[in-house]
This record gives sequence, structure tokens and C-alpha cells, in this order.
Amino acid sequence: MKKGRVFSGARPTGRQHLGNYLGAIKNYVALQDEYECIYCIVDLHALTTLDTTEDLRQNTYEMALDWLAAGIRPEETIVFVQSHVPQVTELHTILSMVTPLGKLTDLPTFKEKVRMQPHNVNYGLVGYPVLMAADITLYKANVVPVGLDQASHLEFTRETVRSFNYRYKTNVLIEPEMKITEVPKVIGTDGQQKMSKSLNNHIELAATPEETLQRVMTMVTDPQRQRRSDPGRPEVCNVFSFHKVFSSTEEVQMVDTECRRAGIGCVDCKKLMARNLNAHLEPFRQRRAEYAANADYVQDVLRDGKQRASVIAEQTMKEVRAAVGLP
Ligand code: TRP
Repeated sequence: MKKGRVFSGARPTGRQHLGNYLGAIKNYVALQDEYECIYCIVDLHALTTLDTTEDLRQNTYEMALDWLAAGIRPEETIVFVQSHVPQVTELHTILSMVTPLGKLTDLPTFKEKVRMQPHNVNYGLVGYPVLMAADITLYKANVVPVGLDQASHLEFTRETVRSFNYRYKTNVLIEPEMKITEVPKVIGTDGQQKMSKSLNNHIELAATPEETLQRVMTMVTDPQRQRRSDPGRPEVCNVFSFHKVFSSTEEVQMVDTECRRAGIGCVDCKKLMARNLNAHLEPFRQRRAEYAANADYVQDVLRDGKQRASVIAEQTMKEVRAAVGLP
């Protein structure tokens, strides 16, 4: 017996990288053991910030493929594309009527978006959290796993549920619990900023072993270690952070000791890490290639996900329309 229903969404950003994996996907996979899970590729949310939609289809496909190869099990878990179930836009409209505008424009996430794209402060951007609340409540999720950056949106969702249920004297919408995912921030190859595709400091899960090694070799290490003979400081080295995730306890211990006394250089340290990383990703890459070889596989999964999601969505909307008193 599962503990409840999990819903989470992610924008279609294409091929996933190690930051996506350690920060979200790994957790998505683990949650399947305890919860009934629904994972959504939120293409409508993506429209709020995209300048062009050229890559939207391909990015959706690549992300779904990575999720499946990483261990999302579509026989149990619903994997689908947000826009394939249009009821979410209807619920978005209804929820927008119980949302004070000031609450949306006060959100730090909204202010940040305005700073990022002052040339494109569109209406959808203001309503972004309302659409997210619609996602979560349409599927009656009890639990939503999110990173800390989404905490204010989850709190907004909970408040919206209370407003809606109070306003319409009902309990059809469920107030979801937020499950903050405790993940170490994954720093990119620049050794400075959070790993992200837009900064090009990322390592793709689907990269070949050679490409992965190349990327690892460009990683910035302890800036104070200029020469091979200089002792290093693993605690400030991003390569060491990766060793802690992908290498054995003995290797981590060895790198720690040897780096500090210049017994091992950065090149060998990186090669060792890349080898362990590649070994870790090998089963993922094999599964990915298998799924990709079957041209229809991902499309079939998404179509099936759409069907299963639609049943839940339409049931919720029947209840919502009745509660609101729509004729
Ligand atoms: N806003 C989330 C993000 O940027 C994505 C998202 C959309 C989401 N709908 C959701 C996350 C529902 C959890 C639940 O990461």
C-alpha cells in the first residue's frame, strides 16, 4: 500500500545533466517505491520564459528519455506532458479568481523573473504560480517534492487551496505537503556556479565516456594549487565533491590524503573521477540507447501517461465545476 500521491513537474530543458540528476531525478526515482507518482513535463510553464519554441518538442522528448533511462517506471508512474491535458488551463482560470494579484507580484520568484527578462513581463509570468497550483491540485497530490527555490510556490498553492475551499464551501481540493529535497548544490565545471545548461558548465548524462572525460578535464580545481608540487585543498575542490558522490570510500580517502600532500596531481585525480562517473552512468546509457532505438517508445509512454492523467483530471474538474456552481 502506497503512502499517497506525489506530483512533480519540470520544464522541458532537453538532455539532463548531473545537476538535474542529483537534484531531482534521483529523488523522483526513489519516491516511486513509497508513493503513487505523477511526473509532468511542464511545457506551458516553459512558454513564460522561452523566446522560441523551436526546440520544445525535441527537448520534451530528450528529457522524457532521460527520465525513463534513469529509472522512472511508466508501468506504475504517470509520465506526461502538461499541455496534453488541457483541464489544467481551466483550473488555472478558476483558481485565478481566488488569487489576490498583489500576492503574485510580491513573490520573490516573480521579482527575479522581472529582473531577468524586463523586456518580457507577460501575464503568464504573473500567473506562473497559479498554473503550478492548478497542476498540483488537478491531480489531487498529497506530496510535492521540490527544491528550496520552489518553497514559496508550494506555500502559495496551499493558501490557494484554502481560499478556494473556503470560498466555495467545499473540500474538493487537497492541500499538498511540501517535501523539500535535501540535495547538495551541484556546482558546474567552472567550480563556481550551480550546474546549468545555460552556463555551459554542465555534464550531460547521455554524453559519451570520451565527452565526459573531456568535460571533467576542464573542471576548475583548487585555485591555490598552481603547480603539481603544490599541496591541494579537497574541501574547496569541486572535483573532490564529485569523488564523494561517485568514488568508493577508499578512493575518496586516498584522494583526500594524497591531494593534501601533492602525492596525486589534478590530472590523475580527474581521470579517476571520470572513470568512476562513467562506470556509474554506463547502465543508464545502455538503457537510453535501447529506448531511443525504438522510435515510438517515448511517444507511447507519453500517450499512455496522457490518458491516465486525463481520467484523474476530468474527475477533479467535474467536482470543481459543481463546487463553483458553473452551469
Ligand atoms: N515551477 C517548477 C520549477 O520551475 C516546475 C513545476 C511546474 C512544478 N508545476 C509543478 C513543480 C508542480 C512541482 C509541482 O521547478
